[in-house]
Amino acid sequence: MNGSAGGQIDSVMQEARVFPPPPEFAARARIGSMEEYEALYARAKNDPESFWGAYAREELHWFEPFTKVLEWNEPYAKWFVGGKTNISYNCLDRHLESPRRHKAAIVWEGEPGDQRVLTYDQLHREVCRFANVLKHLGIEKGDRVSIYMPMVPELAIAMLACARIGAVHSVIFAGFSAEAIAERNHDAEAKLQITADGGWRRGKVLPLKETVDQALEKSPTVQKCVVLRRVGNDVTMKEGRDYWWHELMEEASTDCPAEPLDSEHPLFILYTSGSTGKPKGIRHTTAGYNLYTKKTFEWVFDYRDEDLFWCTADCGWITGHSYIVYGPLSAGASVMMYEGAPNWPAEDRFWDIIEKYRVNTLYTAPTAIRAFIKWGDEHVEKHDLSSLRLLGTVGEGINPEAWMWYHEKIGGGRCPIVDTWWQTETGGIMMSPLPGATPTKPGSCTKPLPGIIPRIVDAQGNDVPVGHGGWLVIAKPWPGMLRGIWGNEERYVEQYWSKIPHCYLTGDNARVDEDGYYWIMGRIDDVINVSGHRLSTIEVESALVSHPAVAEAAAVGRPDEIKGQAIAVFVVLKDAEPSDALRDELRQHVRQEIGALAQPDDVRFTTALPKTRSGKIMRRLLRDIASGKETVGDTTTLEDYTVLAKLRGDEE
Ligand code: WTA
Repeated sequence: MNGSAGGQIDSVMQEARVFPPPPEFAARARIGSMEEYEALYARAKNDPESFWGAYAREELHWFEPFTKVLEWNEPYAKWFVGGKTNISYNCLDRHLESPRRHKAAIVWEGEPGDQRVLTYDQLHREVCRFANVLKHLGIEKGDRVSIYMPMVPELAIAMLACARIGAVHSVIFAGFSAEAIAERNHDAEAKLQITADGGWRRGKVLPLKETVDQALEKSPTVQKCVVLRRVGNDVTMKEGRDYWWHELMEEASTDCPAEPLDSEHPLFILYTSGSTGKPKGIRHTTAGYNLYTKKTFEWVFDYRDEDLFWCTADCGWITGHSYIVYGPLSAGASVMMYEGAPNWPAEDRFWDIIEKYRVNTLYTAPTAIRAFIKWGDEHVEKHDLSSLRLLGTVGEGINPEAWMWYHEKIGGGRCPIVDTWWQTETGGIMMSPLPGATPTKPGSCTKPLPGIIPRIVDAQGNDVPVGHGGWLVIAKPWPGMLRGIWGNEERYVEQYWSKIPHCYLTGDNARVDEDGYYWIMGRIDDVINVSGHRLSTIEVESALVSHPAVAEAAAVGRPDEIKGQAIAVFVVLKDAEPSDALRDELRQHVRQEIGALAQPDDVRFTTALPKTRSGKIMRRLLRDIASGKETVGDTTTLEDYTVLAKLRGDEE
């Protein structure tokens, strides 16, 4: 591992722009000033148990009250010990006694343009019916249910129905292969599979049931399979194993009281791929996760009852779990949900949806933003985006120039941007601006949320000085934290709790500036070591993206006899033609922006970068290509296999 040597990293980035919250936004915000934020932060830091305890008592429903806020046997946390609650109850039943009863919970649009709205009352009934279906199929509290579905309301219904009866869901992103499903089903020992005949993606049918059929041949623990009819394509139904969703639902009653569940009852497993090796089943539990996603949703998105909130992630990722389903619905929000691709039938689909439904908050990924920039402003300019009041990003660092574009073109210069840093493991957002309080700096996720105590350390666990990069760790437990890795407790301890004493290791590098703002510098494993200087990938990439010809860039180190590592960059152009002159210009540009040390040795032009299915650049593969090695390790999470071949072909 590159990062194990010292931990410290040199920062070369210079970003001086600051954007205070617009006064009219701050005036109406839940948290409207830095003083308020600081007071809240101090309260949480000084007495985390009464801080979280009070919110938990007030904002969650308790069938039985908890007796202790936190039991911390490092590295094992129990939050709200002894309490009994149910997240499906908190997402649904709680609103039925309020004016939100007939408010839209889910506003959905399918890729072909079909529309549906489910009010809280309707969603509650659907969830109850499907929970009865699960029971009817023999699913009991603690059983694992594997979900492989397109982005349709039934995906959320299935998740909430599992939660209602205490079954543990494992949602698998509908782009994964049969092999990947089988591996996850096997690890979780899933008893039931839920899927659909197909899903729509860029006008084509994804044959989900066909993929599941192959997966189930290798998933001996799965006894039954429920199939939603979404597309109407031909599928084979296996007698005694496969059931149609609509047929089961016809018979099911809408009466299904939520099961009182222990605070620490497992809620879901979500698999994340480590850079190599077997995917890890991140295990989250009930009450802490519920409270953490609700509070962070309200704080970060300054949620208001009249808002329509749109998180464009898929429910197959943690972002979809926490900020499409559990956080927003616990808060009684209306969420927009969209099934398909952002460029179908044209590159303006997102802007069309925002205009049509008057979406107020858009939460999306930097990879999408860079694609929008490449596709051209004309797609945006066709639409009225004046309903937007807040923008967010998640998943990767955002290059400052992409941030500026998002701010100006999508936000019309008036919407604050919340750059939210967090992980599957953290359950919810850990660092982010509060849009009515925190002045933002493009490229920084700014400050930790209340209750989150980050530190930046070297490999020995010493705090590094201000302005220097190092390993980002979290020094105190928080309610949304993962509770373990399914079936592999050693790996949980080894991976997250053994390197730095008493701290959770995030695996990311970061630095903090003189204003106490955090800048995420990328994964520990991705650091580039040039002549003893340890550089962060995002800083070199951001310098490249600030050149007008560049749409996106990835920087990696390759072995170099003299410098230890040389910097190789892979560049996707907006519409300029690759040329030697442009290559030199880009090298000069980086030199000017951040200094000679960071000047790339190799500049390779490419039409696409290898990405994970959730859109993160896979620098590990680029490292192999840059150093002329065959790719080893897991490539199953790669979004588009042809990219690798193309990149190799592009080599000089
Ligand atoms: C990266 C997604 C910079 C980071 C919620 C983290 C980010 C990993 C940001 C987790 C951000 C996520 N700025 N980097 N705002 N958000 N990351 O598990 O490397 O899919 O460790 O969770 O994404 O990815 P995951």
